[in-house]
Amino acid sequence: GTGYITLDEGYVNTGSTTSAITYLDGEAGILRYRGYPIEELAANCDFVEVMYLLIYGELPTEEQLTNFRNSIRRHTMLHEDMRSFYDGFPRDAHPMAILSSVVSALSTFYQDSLDPHDPQQVEVSIHRLLAKLPTIAAYSYKKSFGQPFIYPQNDLSYCENFLQMMFAVPSEPFHVDPDFVDALNLLLIVHADHEQNCSTSTVRMVGSADANLFASISAGISALWGPLHGGANEAVVNMLEEIIENGGDVDKYVELAKDKQSKVRLMGFGHRVYKNFDPRATIIKKACDRLLDKLDIKDPLFDVAQKLEHAALNDEYFVQRKLYPNVDFYSGVIYRAIGIPVQMFTVLFAMGRLPGWIAHWKEMHGSKTKRICRPRQVYTGETKREFIPIEKR
Ligand code: SDX
Repeated sequence: GTGYITLDEGYVNTGSTTSAITYLDGEAGILRYRGYPIEELAANCDFVEVMYLLIYGELPTEEQLTNFRNSIRRHTMLHEDMRSFYDGFPRDAHPMAILSSVVSALSTFYQDSLDPHDPQQVEVSIHRLLAKLPTIAAYSYKKSFGQPFIYPQNDLSYCENFLQMMFAVPSEPFHVDPDFVDALNLLLIVHADHEQNCSTSTVRMVGSADANLFASISAGISALWGPLHGGANEAVVNMLEEIIENGGDVDKYVELAKDKQSKVRLMGFGHRVYKNFDPRATIIKKACDRLLDKLDIKDPLFDVAQKLEHAALNDEYFVQRKLYPNVDFYSGVIYRAIGIPVQMFTVLFAMGRLPGWIAHWKEMHGSKTKRICRPRQVYTGETKREFIPIEKR
């Protein structure tokens, strides 16, 4: 027989691997990348510096960071043949579908450097992917409303470049708002890794079969798309807008979310690991306050979100189940303030999580105990039965 199988649906109490990348303490609300508290990284770094830390394990020196930035800049353009991929998608294609398709198809342009066991090929694939994801993402947005694709500008920083590819048009000069750049850096940093969440475990699972980096990350993008995971940030804004349309009655919505029959969940609330608060939600909420104040924006969504949080945190159902705002609850307010359309919110989550996925994929390949992921099951189907020829069925 198969010996003793422990069943753990959803892997609530199962560790799939050892890892030295990210540390979470769900009770204390602690999140550290390579030992550095997320609060300090968010306050002192830009996203590219955090990418380096996650992937290479150390905070870079000036020289290391400059070389890393320059190397990424060299790969920001897509092969012109890739642009024609976009002609095949309908205008209203969800950008996450485009992202996972185009990322997987990237492998077809680099077939000579896909070996996951060749360090040089892995290194160039990592830099290509880090550089091209913003371009692929921005192109999917431009495609959705027929504006021309905007080429990357390599004299700009990572976040400046993304914003200009998203919002510039050939007919006008474009000015990147430094407040938007700061807000985007902060958002990408707090999304950059989160140990064995659903999409990261997916990247490890697919990568464990020695699938190439592009195929593994494409699988992670698909997992992140789920509304229970990264797709929650889009679902939160749709939920908040629905509450506003129905007169802003948050208590009614809280009651709905408590009623199992309603199948309604308070999107942006709850977490498998964080049982007191999500430190990222705390950082994002403060950044919301700062940015809306600085831009002098009154976003009704932010007001309703705060009312909803207050109502839920004073309700026995949520308190008893330790359900608090997670990273997705407030992020949409900032995305809106910098002009990102709601259908692109989960794409921004993917851009932030990319270095985390890559770090875990690399760590898995570096592990001495790496084996293909192949869990067992507890069989609950039919016992052996005789075949019935079709005329007798
Ligand atoms: C992310 O894993 C990560 O680290 C993910 C992430 C990352 O950085 O990678 O942090 C990013 O995905 C954040 C989570 C985004 N998802 C949402 O906001 C969707 C809404 N939240 C849930 O669906 C839920 O809380 C999860 C998916 C986040 C966690 O699911 P679990 O751990 O399996 O919890 P559960 O579904 O078993 O819920 C426990 C109880 C249940 O009630 P009972 O059966 O005990 O009576 O709490 C209830 C649930 O019904 N519940 C909710 C709820 N979340 C849980 N009830 C109402 N609204 C909610 N949001």
